Amino acid sequence: MGIRWMGQALSSPFFPVCHKMAAKGDVCGSEVFSVQRLMIEGGTPLRGEIPVHGAKNSALPLLAAAVLCQGETVLHGCPQLSDVAAACRILTELGCRVRREGHSIFVDASSVSNPWVPDDLMREMRSSVVFLGSVAARLGEASLCFPGGCELGARPIDLHLFGLRALGMEIEERDRHIYARTGGRLTGARIRLRFPSVGATENILLAATLAQGETILENAAMEPEIVDLAGFLTACGARIRGAGTDTIVVEGVDRLHGCEYTVMPDRIEAATWLCGCAAAGGEILALGARADCLQSLLPLLERMGCRIRVMPEGVLLAAPARLAGCGQVVTSPYPGFPTDMQAVLMAAAATAEGESRFTETIFENRFRHVAQLEKMGARIQVDGMEARVEGVPLLHGAEVEATDLRGGAALAVAALGALGVTQITQLRHIDRGYESLERDFSAVGAKIVRI
Ligand code: UD1
Repeated sequence: MGIRWMGQALSSPFFPVCHKMAAKGDVCGSEVFSVQRLMIEGGTPLRGEIPVHGAKNSALPLLAAAVLCQGETVLHGCPQLSDVAAACRILTELGCRVRREGHSIFVDASSVSNPWVPDDLMREMRSSVVFLGSVAARLGEASLCFPGGCELGARPIDLHLFGLRALGMEIEERDRHIYARTGGRLTGARIRLRFPSVGATENILLAATLAQGETILENAAMEPEIVDLAGFLTACGARIRGAGTDTIVVEGVDRLHGCEYTVMPDRIEAATWLCGCAAAGGEILALGARADCLQSLLPLLERMGCRIRVMPEGVLLAAPARLAGCGQVVTSPYPGFPTDMQAVLMAAAATAEGESRFTETIFENRFRHVAQLEKMGARIQVDGMEARVEGVPLLHGAEVEATDLRGGAALAVAALGALGVTQITQLRHIDRGYESLERDFSAVGAKIVRI
């Protein structure tokens, strides 16, 4: 296709489109997202070091937690993503002073005063519901609109509301909005979740830190991001035990102070880099990746024939000439296999010798990447919540569309090992979770550009 890489003239048939729009002066905002595409020429083994950034799924609850602190909080390692920018805009709307310097965000919540999270910001980022617990605990009231569903399916928040009500929060649901009041201070309680929801655990933890007395949260989510949130809150003066187990005990304190904290590395991004190398071949060091948070993935990659070495600076993966199938993978809450890693592993398994089976148990709509992978020659049969992947020797380039965040990343993983050029559109999904997929993958030798 005559594409030349980074810093050189592009002669792709798509490049004239960008030229025409730039000449019209209308390449901005969502239009950019609708015309931008990733062009990936597969078949080059990856070699070198690839950095793992701070975790989006940790940075967002930590920014919500900053509302609880009287004084300034400094969060290092915040990824530069649209969801993080949206969280900063929410903080500003609430009355916080927010400043960003590279990957560090400074939040001064001394002047927080507004309990309303604007509807447009709630809709922009579904996980902004995590502000409910912190804003209500700090200001005595909070109001935000229902986050609604998303591309993964229904995203109910009944467990969040159940837990917050158990702490004494009065919550009214009216006209797709939530109005919450604490009527003074919340009261600690024993709460048992029927399912270990990550978001509900975070919301309850945030509210319980400033409650009167002890909260015992049973069947809590055990994800590393919960441990990170508890670590941050503890550094701010909260009293929390058991984070990372299924029972978290919080002894409420009168106030929290600010602190300086570094967001944990993103285990989903690390998984994307490792699966990308497994698919493309070669050897990479995922710099900063924490092997202890990848315990459900690394044995599967080894089973597929990859050599894994856990080093102090990260995780090293060397890919075999051809991958073997990964067997049966069932997504489940931590320490089970994460739903967020299912798509990228499936993309690698598409060219493995033998069969791989995936059972999704967390979200109902998490196989949307399958139809796109099939355009590249993958053979995958979906039956309800099960996908059976019959590995083919090689995928081929195709025009595909990112259908959701991790599904989009999976297409890039598949494209790195495919024959020819793949074009991926609908990049707004991918950009929600990766600072710059093309920058990071091209640093290890991938032929990938955004045009
Ligand atoms: C978080 C992550 C998301 C990840 C997911 C599962 C963030 C910002 N998002 O999402 O990337 O895919 O964990 O690891 O950290 N549920 C209910 N009622 C509730 C809440 C959840 O029924 O009140 C159900 C959901 O429908 C889903 C399951 O519980 O089936 C998991 O949801 P949850 O763990 O809450 O995920 P999120 O916090 O939304």
